Amino acid sequence: MRNYTISVIPGDGIGKEVMPEGIRVLERAASLYGFTIAQKWQDFACCDYYAKHGQMMPDDWKAQIGKPDAIFFGAVGWPNTVPDHVSLWGSLLQFRREYDQYVNLRPVRLMPGVPCPLVGREPGDIDFWVVRENTEGEYSSVGGKMFPGTDREIVIQETVMTRHGTDRVLRYAFDLAATRDRKHVTSATKSNGIAITMPWWDERVEEMAKNYPTVTHDKYHIDILTAQFVLNPDRFDVVVASNLFGDILSDLGPACTGTIGVAPSGNINPDGTHPSLFEPVHGSAPDIAGKGIANPVGQIWSAAMMLEHLGEADAAAAIMRAVETVLAEPGLRTGDLKGKANTEQCGKAIADALT
Ligand code: NAD
Ligand code: IPM
Ligand code: MN
Repeated sequence: MRNYTISVIPGDGIGKEVMPEGIRVLERAASLYGFTIAQKWQDFACCDYYAKHGQMMPDDWKAQIGKPDAIFFGAVGWPNTVPDHVSLWGSLLQFRREYDQYVNLRPVRLMPGVPCPLVGREPGDIDFWVVRENTEGEYSSVGGKMFPGTDREIVIQETVMTRHGTDRVLRYAFDLAATRDRKHVTSATKSNGIAITMPWWDERVEEMAKNYPTVTHDKYHIDILTAQFVLNPDRFDVVVASNLFGDILSDLGPACTGTIGVAPSGNINPDGTHPSLFEPVHGSAPDIAGKGIANPVGQIWSAAMMLEHLGEADAAAAIMRAVETVLAEPGLRTGDLKGKANTEQCGKAIADALT
C-alpha cells in the first residue's frame, strides 16, 4: 500500500467551502486506486487565526507542518478584518518563498460542454500552461517609504530578478514544452517600457532557448499578450512569465475558458527538498462566501495535480475524467458556469463519477 501524508490548510472564505469537496474526491480516489492519504489539518494561515493571535501563523509553523508529501491549500484573505498584504505576506507568500516553490504551474483548458465566453472556441483551441515565476520578480520586499505623511512622500518597491531564479523557471518551461506536442514557449515581456529587468529577461530566454533546438519560442509584450489570450488563445502552448505577469495571465486564461472557479495551481519545488503546495488560483471570494455556491473544481483539479506530483498519475487522470463528465452537465455545474448546482452537489457528483 502506498501511503502519503498531506498538510491541509483551508484558509478563509470559500477556501473553507471548497476544501471539503477536494478532500471528498481525494479520499474516493485513494480508495479506488489503492493508496492512503493521511491528513494533518492546520488552523493557521487564515484570518481567524490572526484575530486570535495577531499573526497569520505561529512562529514554529514549519515545525508544525513537519515534512508532509504535499500541502493542500484553499484560499486566504479577508480584507474586511486583515489588510491583504498582511494576510498574504504572512501566509501563502511565506510558503512559496520558504519552501522555494519557484514554479507556479497553472493549466488553462477549455472543457467539453462548458460555455466559452469566446465565441466559436472549441475544446482543444484553449489548452496551454502558464509557468509563473513564484519567488521573486515584482513581488519583492526591497524598497521602502520616505517622508511618510508629508507631501514629499516617496514609495519605492524594487523588482528583483536573479539569474539563478530566472534561469530555473525558464528551464522548467522549456522542459515542459519539450514534452508537449506543439513544443512552443511564449515569453511574457515588457522590454519596451521596463528597460532594465525586461530586456534582461528577454536575453535569458534567448540563452535558455539555445539548449532546446526542438522547442520553438516567441515573445509578446504583456499588454498585447492579454489581447492575444482573448483573440487567439489557440496560439499558446507554454507561456512563461514573471511573478506579476504570470499572476495576471493566470486569471485571464481561465476566465477565457468560462470561469476562474475551475483553475488549479501547483506551487512546485521541483528539487523536492521542500513540500510543494496545491491550491485553486482563485481567492477567498468574500462576495459569495457563506452561500455554499462556490465552484469546487479549482480545488478538485488541484487535488489531481497534487496526485500527479505524488506519482499517482492514474488517479489524477481519473479525477480529470470525472471533472469533465460533470462539467459537461449543466445541472451539475455551479452558478459561475451558468449551472444550478451548489458546491456540495458539484463536489459529490465528481466523487460519484470517479471510476
Ligand atoms: P477572488 O478570486 O477571491 O474572487 C474574484 C471573483 O471571482 C469574485 O467575484 C468571486 O466570487 C469569483 N470567484 C472566485 N472563485 C470562485 C469560485 N470558486 N466559484 C465561483 N466564483 C468564484 O479574488 P479577489 O476578490 O480579488 O480576492 C478576494 C480575497 O482573496 C482577497 O483577500 C485576496 O487577497 C485573496 N486572494 C487569495 C488568493 C489565494 O489564496 N491564492 C488568490 C487570489 C486572491
Ligand atoms: C494568486 C494570488 C496571490 C498572488 C495573491 C493573493 C498574493 O493572486 O495566487 O494568484 O498574487 O500570487
Ligand atoms: Mn492571482
